[in-house]
Amino acid sequence: MRERLEELLKDARAEIEKSGVKDSLLTVKSKYLGRKGALQGFFKDLGSLAADERKRAGELINTVKNSLESEIETRLSAIHAAEMARRLKTEKLDVTLPGRSRPLGSIHPVTQTLYEVEEIFTSLGFGIAEGPEVEVDYYNFEALNIPRDHPARDMQDTFYINKEVLLRTHTSPVQIRVMEEQPPPLRIIAPGTVYRRDSDVTHTPMFHQVEGFMVDTNITFSNLKGVLTHFLHSLFGENIEVRFRPSFFPFTEPSAEVDIRCVICKGKSSACRVCKGSGWLEVLGSGMIHPEVFRSVKYDPEKVSGFAFGIGIERIAMLKYGIDDIRLFFENDVRFLAQY
Ligand code: PHE
Repeated sequence: MRERLEELLKDARAEIEKSGVKDSLLTVKSKYLGRKGALQGFFKDLGSLAADERKRAGELINTVKNSLESEIETRLSAIHAAEMARRLKTEKLDVTLPGRSRPLGSIHPVTQTLYEVEEIFTSLGFGIAEGPEVEVDYYNFEALNIPRDHPARDMQDTFYINKEVLLRTHTSPVQIRVMEEQPPPLRIIAPGTVYRRDSDVTHTPMFHQVEGFMVDTNITFSNLKGVLTHFLHSLFGENIEVRFRPSFFPFTEPSAEVDIRCVICKGKSSACRVCKGSGWLEVLGSGMIHPEVFRSVKYDPEKVSGFAFGIGIERIAMLKYGIDDIRLFFENDVRFLAQY
């Protein structure tokens, strides 16, 4: 038995030596040490031996078993180490490759313009107020001195929900809501969406306005001019020419529309498509708050005065970014939006 065991040990060692990869080594392992392996046969033979021989033979088989086990283990670590060394040598990781970037969104140009406008007025000390988009007739029209037969109430312009409830056509109702709640002095802007039945390259049924108003004792038209000129210079640059043109709104008296020099032709082209050859672009409506408006909020028009204005945000954004079709803002084409 000793000789047969020595034979087995020799064969097994030769096979272990030959196994260059883990799989073949494991095959060798089960061939000799497995439950149906060669050594198992020796253990079975023990039964036929006399008791004293059985003990020595058992020890011998165990010795062979143990040394095979440890030799296979050693060989296995050597194979692992060789494999690791090979991978370290051949595999490369280029840490200078740029990473994969994720597409990032951007702030909508209308929102950017809105933020910019808000920033200019808040830095002048204006606070921000908001009002409902679904409004009642009283706030949208009546309290703003817009009589029943005024053309602005026409079914053509206003989205009515019923006779009394509508989508606000401007942010001016916020003037009334704020003044009803707070006594003067007031310096407020009110940004938000407004709605009109209108749709072409310069009009969409929903758009954004920023209302602004300032009320105190002794507010004059000079204050209006000063604040709005500062605003337009901040937005379009110190060199932009600003013009106040007499106009009419039922809730202001006197009223003025404010124009800036055409940002495209600078007033030099009679064929300019943007200013239509006039050299000027209308950017906002304004005026001194009408005494009737003060009366409807129980302010005394003999004691307080104020100015108000309304800015169309899409219009400003179109001029700032040179966009000639307002509908681009609301189509949500990423190729358009990603440019801003
Ligand atoms: N509400 C007016 C509009 O939508 C703008 C405006 C606001 C004019 C305040 C004067 C004063 O056209």
